[in-house]
Amino acid sequence: MASPARVYTHGVLGNARADFAEDVRAGLTKHPQKELPSKYLYDEIGSALFEVITLLPEYGLSRAGARLLKRHSEEIIDRLPSPVAVAELGSGSGTKTRWILEALSRRQPVTYYPIDISRTALSRCWQELGRIDSVSIVGFERAYLDGLLDVASRRKPGECLLVLFLGSTIGNFDRPAATQFLSEVRGILHPGDALLLATDLEKSVSELLLAYDDPAGVTAAFNLNLLARINHELDGNFDLSSFTHEARYNSEQRRIEMHLRSTRAQTAHVVGASLEVHLDADETIWTESSHKYRCDEAAEMGLRAGFQCEAQWVDAEWPYAQSLLLAE
Ligand code: AVJ
Repeated sequence: MASPARVYTHGVLGNARADFAEDVRAGLTKHPQKELPSKYLYDEIGSALFEVITLLPEYGLSRAGARLLKRHSEEIIDRLPSPVAVAELGSGSGTKTRWILEALSRRQPVTYYPIDISRTALSRCWQELGRIDSVSIVGFERAYLDGLLDVASRRKPGECLLVLFLGSTIGNFDRPAATQFLSEVRGILHPGDALLLATDLEKSVSELLLAYDDPAGVTAAFNLNLLARINHELDGNFDLSSFTHEARYNSEQRRIEMHLRSTRAQTAHVVGASLEVHLDADETIWTESSHKYRCDEAAEMGLRAGFQCEAQWVDAEWPYAQSLLLAE
């Protein structure tokens, strides 16, 4: 008989609209390359479109991550001390996390702390995971590091923390920022705590381009929705029909870049950001980076950030790695 999950959500709302306006203003006044932060892709529509992306045959990342956790959760858990509480950066799709929580809950009652800036993502996660026996969920509607600080301050004496950073979300950071981010995570953890880090691995450019520019146009819609969001939330007037989605592989930086290309010279207004933005024909707005890694890069980044790589699992079908990093 499943015990009902107890769910609390801790949020610090701040002024989300003002932050969005400020970030849009800063990004669209950058020279020579205009940009928008990728975290704003995930409003309610963007999150739903991303869920569809994970189902596309061309986008192998999510299935690879799920396969690895399905196969290796027990092994991962066996390498951790007991008891363990689980925090997840980005509340992710419940399916991946379920394997870990189920494996752990066979050993001990578990508290699971999903941390996400999106309330929609948190409630979806609760729907997916709220009914697992012996698992209670405490959600944090916060930025990753703020939320993790809060979670760490709630730990019970002797309890170790397993932090999940799945989906290769780390790939959104450029390489120096990724190591910096891991160092900040490490700064919040205690020796013996663990970080399970997913990294999408290098593969052929043609496979990558298809994964980020699928023939059905779902990724294009996901990207264009960012302009629709600016129009809705910040009173903008971007003409979505004069932008196209573009995915490029930057082989020097070893990353996919998503851009929105203006198909004509145009001027748009964003009243809520007091902004008038001019785009030349063919000028782009850079909206996301998705870095691709070599197998040993996760361990190297971890080492520089103060973690020891305890074990690593790699999916053979879609090269993708999960690394268990232990705080030294
Ligand atoms: C959720 C950041 C891991 O970079 O692959 C998917 C986002 N962008 N298709 C990724 C994304 C375009 C995704 N992450």
